[in-house]
Amino acid sequence: MLPSPFSAPILPCRLLFLVSLFISSAYSDFIQQNFLGCLSQYQITEFSTSYFTPTDSSFSAVLESTAQNLRYLMPSVKKPDLIFMPSSEAHVQAAVQCAKRLGIQLRVRSGGHDYEGVSYASEMEQPFVIVDMGKLRSVTVDVDGNSAWVEAGATVGELYYRISEKSNVHGFPAGLCTSLGVGGHITGGAYGSMMRKYGLGADNVVDVRMVDGDGEILDRESMGEDLFWAIRGGGGGSFGVILAWKVQLVPVPPTVTVFTVGKTLEQGLSKILSKWQQIAPALDDNLFIRVILQPSNKKTVLGLFNALFLGPVDDLLQVTTRSFPELGLEGKDCSEMSWIESVLYIAGYPNGTNPKVLLQGKSLFKNYFKAKSDFIRSPIPENGLEGLWSRLIEEDGSLMIWNPYGGMMSRIPESQIPFPHRNGTLFKIQYVVLWQDGNVSAAHCMEWIRKLYNYMAPYASTFPREAYVNYRDLDLGMSRNGDASFVQATAWGTKYFKNNFNRLVQIKTKVDPDNFFRHEQSIPPLPVSRKKSRKRRGRIHLSNNHQYD
Ligand SMILES: Cc1cc2nc3c(=O)[nH]c(=O)nc-3n(C[C@H](O)[C@H](O)[C@H](O)COP(=O)(O)OP(=O)(O)OC[C@H]3O[C@@H](n4cnc5c(N)ncnc54)[C@H](O)[C@@H]3O)c2cc1C
Ligand SMILES: *[C@@H]1O[C@H](CO)[C@@H](O)[C@H](O)[C@H]1NC(C)=O
Ligand SMILES: *[C@@H]1O[C@H](CO)[C@@H](O)[C@H](O)[C@H]1NC(C)=O
Ligand SMILES: *[C@@H]1O[C@H](CO)[C@@H](O)[C@H](O)[C@H]1NC(C)=O
Repeated sequence: MLPSPFSAPILPCRLLFLVSLFISSAYSDFIQQNFLGCLSQYQITEFSTSYFTPTDSSFSAVLESTAQNLRYLMPSVKKPDLIFMPSSEAHVQAAVQCAKRLGIQLRVRSGGHDYEGVSYASEMEQPFVIVDMGKLRSVTVDVDGNSAWVEAGATVGELYYRISEKSNVHGFPAGLCTSLGVGGHITGGAYGSMMRKYGLGADNVVDVRMVDGDGEILDRESMGEDLFWAIRGGGGGSFGVILAWKVQLVPVPPTVTVFTVGKTLEQGLSKILSKWQQIAPALDDNLFIRVILQPSNKKTVLGLFNALFLGPVDDLLQVTTRSFPELGLEGKDCSEMSWIESVLYIAGYPNGTNPKVLLQGKSLFKNYFKAKSDFIRSPIPENGLEGLWSRLIEEDGSLMIWNPYGGMMSRIPESQIPFPHRNGTLFKIQYVVLWQDGNVSAAHCMEWIRKLYNYMAPYASTFPREAYVNYRDLDLGMSRNGDASFVQATAWGTKYFKNNFNRLVQIKTKVDPDNFFRHEQSIPPLPVSRKKSRKRRGRIHLSNNHQYD
């Protein structure tokens, strides 16, 4: 027998939710009046500039400000009833306490880069309120202590810049795209061009400040090692609201080297890529060569070998001449620069851009897009590549990014943090399709990328077919209408977390048995009665899923 669907408690929120199906504008007023009324009891200063309702002239601009996927801003997508922008930690506590008391669903947004927009749209439940962390973005770098406290609303670009301001031999190994929000990004892992040397952003977190479901602020010590484990890679929006991370800085050399070399099919891309698959995950840890693959002129594929080397050009050329002569890399292809300049280079800023641009915390582009990911454990043979090329060429808006693993990524055990894609992974593929006209292209593009994903199944990891939680993909399964069916969640949960999913569920059941922090792919609590789960706090063991059959 299958477990019964996970039924939500009959709290005022559920009743109100049902009522809202009939009179949603009344509910909207309810949210605005009662939520704001509740917040106002918390003596929030700057209160009037902290929230936006749909009738405010700036509402759309605020909603759209960091929303990265235009697909989730379409008119057909339900909008929040309120956006609250806390300007202090106490505001976040108040928002959680008020939402809990009134039974209102919260969505938490830091940088707005969620691939499926779960930080600013809800397919699961209406109405909902966004807590947008955009005003909480201070970064405090302690070079002597080799660490930094960074608030959730800061972008990784701001973090990188603030580090570089104080030292040219310190860095932090997180995302390549500089507009990512530290709050959501690190909760899912956070990889970048130093991952082969230092692992993920989440591997380099040493402390945290987080608001839990009771509105209390916890740090590493008060939350305990289980919850501290879960929030470093278990995905955003499941356990609490991250206020700030304390991260460990890593050493970078004063001079690093970058290059981008392009090869088309006519220039032997397939052969070079066959070699890359074997050597890129085994190269010197200081060298990260990713490959960006795009169709070109509707007839060929261009592969850009885009790299960061933590050292001078002469050392780089020794490595590539020995291990990857097929690329034909020469000194003239390479540029030496500081680490912060390499951040701009890899992020795609034009040569010569002032690093201060990172303080604007803005993204470079926005699109309608759909993306998916795969982890590859054995090289894709050339005939497999051929089919991939024909599919890319037929779709103008297509793009793939291949990211090499190995190095430090292989030396960290699978269960150290929830991110499990470690030793044995050769590289990760990200498939993307972008389009400009939301009205006409979505269905076609969605179908194209799903077919591509099916085509790639024989070459991808299996049991499970692994996926990166920070590349959220609702095709893998989702909860609807507040139903966090545990069985459904296991489908995507094991793809993102492998065996770590079980431990995440255990921890969720302990710290948030009522599933207050929820979205389409949040970690579900176990389907046991909440009263029992409260009494049995700390004693729930989940050895495998079958015990719930
Ligand atoms: C253009 C682009 C480039 C990218 N490049 C990289 C890359 O180089 N490396 C990489 O690893 N990933 C990359 N990603 C994926 C990225 O890591 C994830 O989308 C990540 O979740 C973004 O975090 P955010 O705060 O910007 O997003 P948000 O949309 O704000 O949040 C993402 C998720 O985290 C939750 N969340 C947000 N803030 C908090 C908080 N304060 N506390 C708790 N939960 C929170 C949200 O509810 C949501 O579930 C990229 C994404 C895009 C769109
Ligand atoms: C950037 O521009 C400078 C000066 O114009 C040049 O010397 C350098 O090689 C360029 N770097 C890259 C990566 O193109
Ligand atoms: C990674 O896996 C390979 C093959 O199973 C093994 O030989 C190697 O020792 C592992 N490396 C680490 C660091 O665990
Ligand atoms: C989609 O169509 C609507 C109605 O025809 C139009 O108002 C809107 O601008 C279109 N949107 C895009 C992105 O083309």
